[in-house]
Amino acid sequence: MHEFYPILIVGAIIGAFATIFIVAFATMKDKKEAIGFERDMKDSVIIKRLLRYAKPYWPQFLLVLILMIFSIAHEIISPLIMGDLIDMVGEGSFTLSDLYVRIISYAAILIVSLISTYFQSIILQKTGQRIVYNIREDLFHHIEGLSHNQLNKIPVGTLVTRVTNDTNAISITFTNILVNLIKNMFIIIGVLGAMLLLNYMLTLVVLCFVPFVVLFTVIFRKFSRRAHRQVKDGTTDINIFLSENLSGMKIIQIFNREERKKEEFQKKNRKLGKAKMGQMFVFGIFRPMVYMLYISSVLCLFYFGARGKLEGWEFLGQAIEVNVIVAFYQYINKFFNPIQNLAEQFNRLQATFASSEKIYKIFDIVPEVVDEPDAIELETVKGDIEFRNVWFSYLPDEWVLKDVSFKVNAGDTVAFVGSTGSGKTTILSLICRNYDIQKGEILIDGINIKKIKISSLRRHFGQMLQDVFLFAGTIRSNIILGLDNVNDDEINAACKYVNADSFINKLSGGLDEVVRERGNNFSAGQRQLISFARTIIHKPSVMILDEATANIDTETEVLIQDSLEKMMNIGTMLMVAHRLSTIQHADNIIVLSHGRIIEQGNHSALLQNKGHYYRLYTLQYHKEQLGGGK
Ligand SMILES: Nc1ncnc2c1ncn2[C@@H]1O[C@H](COP(=O)(O)OP(=O)(O)O)[C@@H](O)[C@H]1O
Ligand SMILES: [Mg+2]
Repeated sequence: MHEFYPILIVGAIIGAFATIFIVAFATMKDKKEAIGFERDMKDSVIIKRLLRYAKPYWPQFLLVLILMIFSIAHEIISPLIMGDLIDMVGEGSFTLSDLYVRIISYAAILIVSLISTYFQSIILQKTGQRIVYNIREDLFHHIEGLSHNQLNKIPVGTLVTRVTNDTNAISITFTNILVNLIKNMFIIIGVLGAMLLLNYMLTLVVLCFVPFVVLFTVIFRKFSRRAHRQVKDGTTDINIFLSENLSGMKIIQIFNREERKKEEFQKKNRKLGKAKMGQMFVFGIFRPMVYMLYISSVLCLFYFGARGKLEGWEFLGQAIEVNVIVAFYQYINKFFNPIQNLAEQFNRLQATFASSEKIYKIFDIVPEVVDEPDAIELETVKGDIEFRNVWFSYLPDEWVLKDVSFKVNAGDTVAFVGSTGSGKTTILSLICRNYDIQKGEILIDGINIKKIKISSLRRHFGQMLQDVFLFAGTIRSNIILGLDNVNDDEINAACKYVNADSFINKLSGGLDEVVRERGNNFSAGQRQLISFARTIIHKPSVMILDEATANIDTETEVLIQDSLEKMMNIGTMLMVAHRLSTIQHADNIIVLSHGRIIEQGNHSALLQNKGHYYRLYTLQYHKEQLGGGK
């Protein structure tokens, strides 16, 4: 009995830890929902969809698998050589050439394995990056195809996280996890085979520890999943908060909400910090635990190996020799490591599956506003526009436009008038199918816009929206917006036409003046003028203009008025202008109230009508007389 004391002690320690873990595991189980990644898609579905991206690169993956054979061979053969070498030294009688052969073969195997590892990682990294590049591009393209309505529903921060972080997680799947899974499985099988060939009894001793490694690992998986999820959620949370609040920073400052926002941020920051600490804690417990198992197994190996050698034990015809003990000592390490890695990799695989699912959820949003199969290409647009009994709502059953019908003849200028919220912007955004209408028809040159390819529809329309969006870049890049073959003369002519030249010429950089993010180094009026130039350069057949109202100084307003009047002569124009004097010459003025057309006609007809327009006009006229301004 005495001789088994050391084993009993080791067993007792491992058993005690196993018990603690099992108890912790059992108590965790109650909160199962909180542990998993709450995924809706099956692993198999995700794998299938991911593999679709990997498929074009199968030769690369095959090459990596072939190269991998060398690394696996190194893991299995080197302990044998080492064992042999130590055996030889122990016996004390060997020739120098025996020594050289072993050292050189060891070095050769090591070098070959290192070279193969190098090429494996190079090929994998390249392939992984290409795959992720494709996914990112597809995702961005997909997001571009979503309707305004669908985009409104997803926070920008979420989209940013999807395109950056989550695609990175997928890259790790290909460059790291999948390949390591395969490699580790082969190493486990190979090492096990080599151990069995050397000595059954010692293999059994090592195998006794495997259930514990597996048990610890499974338990660890549960804990680390939860920790990982918390980190992930915390990160997304902070990203959303940041993207929103950095954009709104000026409002925060204006309303003196810095302290409040700081507290909110602190809370989220603390939560993320805590989640990260939790993750560290889980890993911090797991790793030493497995190390303890490893040390225990090594001690057992030496105990049995040494006694077996001393007392000449034989098991199924195999005696224990020094080379066997040395080889086993190395194999134990090579055996436990992959098991532990497998567990961590399965775990990371779960995490990347969660990321993949999130990406696929975006991919699965079917674009609402799409080309119909029989949609046609419009080569030219004359500019006849008709709304026939159009009903539209952003939210179910809250009608924003109610039975709106009007006609615009090619070349005409039509203006929309009405109080804020009456639906002016909405009408303008429907013409280019930024949103789809629920009832009625919109016709361009007599063709229903649903039957026209969206790209060709938008090509012929110049939309100048209420809040002009400028991209970071230069004035030139914002005016041409990626259009080829435009020279500076044309740009300058366009700027001059819309009166943007006067302020651009005053800038030190001229057309090359830097535009900061969202164009915040320009005034609202200047941004609007740039957007006019942008539209003119793109030579649309129909112009749609939603005039900005806020923050426009009188000087710029005069420039805007003037360029508006010029632009009215180019082609068909639909506009919302806030100065009624601007629209006096419009061919038709449509007066809206609560989503319905209440009057239409030209300026003089509407004045004679003495209706809503008349009241608006007299009000504004008097105000101008009194205030001399806006
Ligand atoms: N993206 C949106 N989602 C939901 N409701 C919206 C959206 N945009 C506008 N609305 C609502 O539609 C109505 C008309 O808005 P809009 O066409 O912008 O008015 P106007 O340009 O005449 O001031 C308003 O009541 C507004 O609240
Ligand atoms: Mg509006």
